[in-house]
Amino acid sequence: MLTSYDALTAGVLDQAGARALLVGDTSGEMVLGDPSTVPVTMEQLVPMVRAVVRGTRTALVVADLPFGTYQSGPRQALVNAVRHLKEGGAQAVKLEGGRAVIPQVSALVAAGIPVVGHLGLTPQSIHALGGHRVQGRGGAGDRLLEDALALERAGAFAVVLEAVPAELGRRVSVSLRIPTVGIGAGPDCDAQIMVWQDLAGLTTGRAPRFVKRYAHLAGTLGDAADRYAGEVAAVRYPERAHTSV
Ligand code: KIV
Ligand code: NA
Repeated sequence: MLTSYDALTAGVLDQAGARALLVGDTSGEMVLGDPSTVPVTMEQLVPMVRAVVRGTRTALVVADLPFGTYQSGPRQALVNAVRHLKEGGAQAVKLEGGRAVIPQVSALVAAGIPVVGHLGLTPQSIHALGGHRVQGRGGAGDRLLEDALALERAGAFAVVLEAVPAELGRRVSVSLRIPTVGIGAGPDCDAQIMVWQDLAGLTTGRAPRFVKRYAHLAGTLGDAADRYAGEVAAVRYPERAHTSV
């Protein structure tokens, strides 16, 4: 599973065999330049969901419910999840939290909307968590497992586990019937997810420990733009082949 925020990359990742694409609120950071996922709105995310759906042929498209679009209760969650499906064309939604959001999960499932949960490091709660830290150490691990079981009972069809010890990732994965999707949760999760700009090395510099850069797109793109600028300045581009008469 990978994130995607636009039609073109959705097509590339879908063709590459991604089973599911998440239009995550990480788009706040990756696309919009926000300092966190907290400011992201439905108005910003829905057009990205629509773009990803248009670019995708086979992958399941999951849309994040941004911060503040479901915390008020089941009715608010339903209104916004319906927008992701009707306006965006998504097939499922994801929201953060455990026992606190069970009424929301139940309402969405009752309405026929597939729901993915998200536990561990939940970036929408970054101000309460006090930063990007590994979650679920010690007794917090037992509570996280209870949250995961509650999400499963409420009808969630998968749970993202972010930044938890590998041993907890394993424990939750063997305890649930629904699949876990890990990001910094060790190798024993049923699936893995990564932000595509991290995978592709479009992000550079310090990254969480779980990021593996499979390409170096920032360098490739920078080189291309640099060569283009140089050739334009030297009038080596455009050549005859690029020119209409
Ligand atoms: O918004 C997002 O990209 C996510 C994943 C990192 C799980 O929630
Ligand atoms: Na997210």
